[in-house]
This record gives sequence, C-alpha cells and structure tokens, in this order.
Amino acid sequence: MKVLVVGSGGREHALAWAIGRSRRIDRLWIAPGNAGTASAGENVDIAATDVAPLVDFARGQKIDLTVVGPEAPLLAGIVDRFRDAGLSCYGPTAAAARLEGSKAFAKDFMRRHGVPTGAFATFDDAARARSYARSLGAPVVVKADGLAAGKGVVVARDIDEAERAIDAMLVEQRFGEAGSRVVVEEFLQGEEVSVHAVCAGGRALLLPSSQDHKRAYDDDRGPNTGGMGAIAPVPWVDAAALARVESEVVRPVLDGMAAEGTPFTGTLYAGIMWTAAGPKVLEFNARFGDPETQSLMPLLVDGDVCELLASAASGNLPNGLRLASRCAATIVIASKGYPEGAVAGVEIRGLDAVEADTMVFHAGTRAVDGRIVTAGGRVLGITAWAPTLPGALGRAYLVAERIHIDGAFYRSDIGRRHLTQ
Ligand code: AMP
Ligand code: GLY
Repeated sequence: MKVLVVGSGGREHALAWAIGRSRRIDRLWIAPGNAGTASAGENVDIAATDVAPLVDFARGQKIDLTVVGPEAPLLAGIVDRFRDAGLSCYGPTAAAARLEGSKAFAKDFMRRHGVPTGAFATFDDAARARSYARSLGAPVVVKADGLAAGKGVVVARDIDEAERAIDAMLVEQRFGEAGSRVVVEEFLQGEEVSVHAVCAGGRALLLPSSQDHKRAYDDDRGPNTGGMGAIAPVPWVDAAALARVESEVVRPVLDGMAAEGTPFTGTLYAGIMWTAAGPKVLEFNARFGDPETQSLMPLLVDGDVCELLASAASGNLPNGLRLASRCAATIVIASKGYPEGAVAGVEIRGLDAVEADTMVFHAGTRAVDGRIVTAGGRVLGITAWAPTLPGALGRAYLVAERIHIDGAFYRSDIGRRHLTQ
C-alpha cells in the first residue's frame, strides 16, 4: 500500500512510525512532515491545509490511504475533497468535524442526544453572558466557540476573571471570529481522562485511555498549552469505566451524528471529566490528540495500524484491536518561550542516544545543513514503553535528560500523580 500522512507534529511522526511498521506498506509519505518523519518515510513539501495540491499529489502517486492528523484540514473539508476524487481518506467530513470546530455545536448536539456534559449556555452578547456566568457562580468556564489553538478556554476562579474573559472574546474580539460566540459552562470537578475511538460504519473501537498534561509547568501551573506530556493507559480507568464511556458518550454520538445526516468516520476524541456522577464531556476533538497519540501508538503496534485505519476509511472496522499490555509515557520538550512564542533555529543535540522501547518523536524540528534545529513550540516528544508506568516514565526521562536544546524545558511531573496511588 501507498500511504500519505498529513501534518507535521509529534502526532504525525507517531502515526507514520506505527503505520510504517505494517507489512502492507510499500511507500509512505508525510506532508509536510518534519526532520523526524523524514526517517519514517518521505517528506513532501505540501502544507497540511493545501487541500487541492494534496489531492493532486495523492492522485498522481495513486495513494491507497491518506491519514489526516490536524483539525484545520479536516474542518476545511479535506476528507470530502478526497472522497470526491475517489480517494480513500481517514477522518471525518467537514460536517462531522464540527464536533470539534464549534464548541456551541458540540454542546447543543450533546443536549439533543443526551450525552452527559456540564450545564451551559451560548452567547454572542456580552451582558447576557456575564449575567449567566454570575448565575452559575465561580468557578466558571468561558470558552471561545471556534478553534483557538487551545487558548480559547478560561477556567475562571472568580466572576471578575470570567467577565474579563467574556469581554476579551466578545467585546475586544481577541480571538477574532473564533471568539464571536462564547460558551459559558459549569465548572466540573473530577479526574480528567481522554478516550479515543476509531469510528466507521456506525461502529467504534475504543483505544486505551490516556491523559494529557495541558499546563506548561509542573504541578499544573502556568498557561495552557497544546499538551506537555501524556501517559496511556490511565491506571484507574478500568474496563468498566471504558464501557461506560462507550455506552454513555461514544454510542449516542455515533447514533446522533448518523441521525442528523452527518455520520462520523475517523477518530472521535472525547475529553472527559470523571465526576462524582460519572463521565461528563469537556470537549470533542475529531482527530487523534497530540501528544496522546505518541503514547497510544506503542500500545497498538502489535496489531496493524495501517490495516485498522485503511479499513476504517472504507467504512469497516475489524472485530477487535490487538492491544499490548504495556504502559507508555511521553515527555514533551518545548522551546524557550512556549506557549506565548517560541525561539526557532536552536540546535538539538543528543538525538543519537537511543534506548530500547523508546522513540523520540519529532514535532517542531527542521534539518538544516546536516544539523537538526528547533522549528516550533513543541520540539520533541520522548516516548518510552514498559510493562509498568514507572518503568516507562523512568526511561522517557532518562532519554529526555540526554537531549540538549538551549533554553528548552520540559515538565518533570508527567504521570506523577498516578505513581503514589
Ligand atoms: P477544553 O479545550 O474544552 O478541553 O478545555 C481545556 C481544559 O480546560 C480542559 O482540559 C480542562 O482542564 C479545563 N476545562 C474545560 N472545561 C471545563 C469544565 N467545564 N470544568 C472544569 N474544567 C474545565
Ligand atoms: N492534547 C490535546 C489535543 O490534542 O487536543
């Protein structure tokens, strides 16, 4: 098979690595990729959102399967355009990707279909939004409706902070169009967990649970980021908990999307707060999470990831997944200044230090004159796997310590809260 992976982050490196291990692979491209994906396959210099050139490339190379990583091309209709051209593409249509693209759509959809989520209301008027926030009381959560690269969510500790967030979005329009509507939402307390489901033909296969670490610094301090590390599976999430997520969240989403004429194919990512009353959905993504995918792929590679995604793209799912009973952890190394800005062009040293059962997934990296330099906020995702979570974390940190990038940083507490339980 000839496969194309679209995107350029750690998620795409992990997908390319896992897909490339399939016996069915003849050729693998990544568009546009990064310095790491260049050793998993061949990079093609086409941006992830340049949909028409990607269709032309796939047609020209007779590509059998395209796997889309990021949300932007999904919302721009890449899957629809590939299908129009008779090409197989794994991911949701633009209409189905609205579950991620509009938080107001997702919340209304959940209300229509009885998916458990926090109380909320949607506003384009600041005075009404402020008044509803006051009626919920602090803490309270304010979210920009559209995509805002993880920065459009404010968990406000007091009403002042909530009102400032509402004004920043609706009055000062700091998030542009994405913030022209806001969702004001009940604050939920509990344990966060992410559940990915590979969906096709009205069915879903749930992947092991995972947990992101969204804040920039240790002990969940500092600004929200795209994700500073991940573990999979989450120790307390047992088969019964996953079964609840399947029946209370994934099943009604698939049925609801089909009933509304926008069936969901692709990866449904449910961000969940496990409250005293059970799972409640914080958000949906219509794609694999990053960095979660970097921790999930090592649990899936005993099976055939290429085969799984190829059959899903054609509307079928295998009867089950071949899951390894191991634990994985990912430590993200980020550039100085991330997430506000990022220093680019800094040399990365120590990449040749390899260990067994470890992958250094590249995110913001670029090859320049035989050197590998930083090219983005999140630079590398050091991923290790082992029979136990402490084993995986220990090895990931060992490798992270050997890598040198001036000014870069990583969290030293990934997965730590699960080690004392
Ligand atoms: P989201 O992008 O919607 O997942 O929000 C980003 C982060 O904000 C989540 O991972 C949670 O930690 C937090 N968050 C979002 N919504 C809520 C909520 N209703 N209650 C408590 N925390 C929330
Ligand atoms: N790590 C969170 C996300 O991919 O949206």
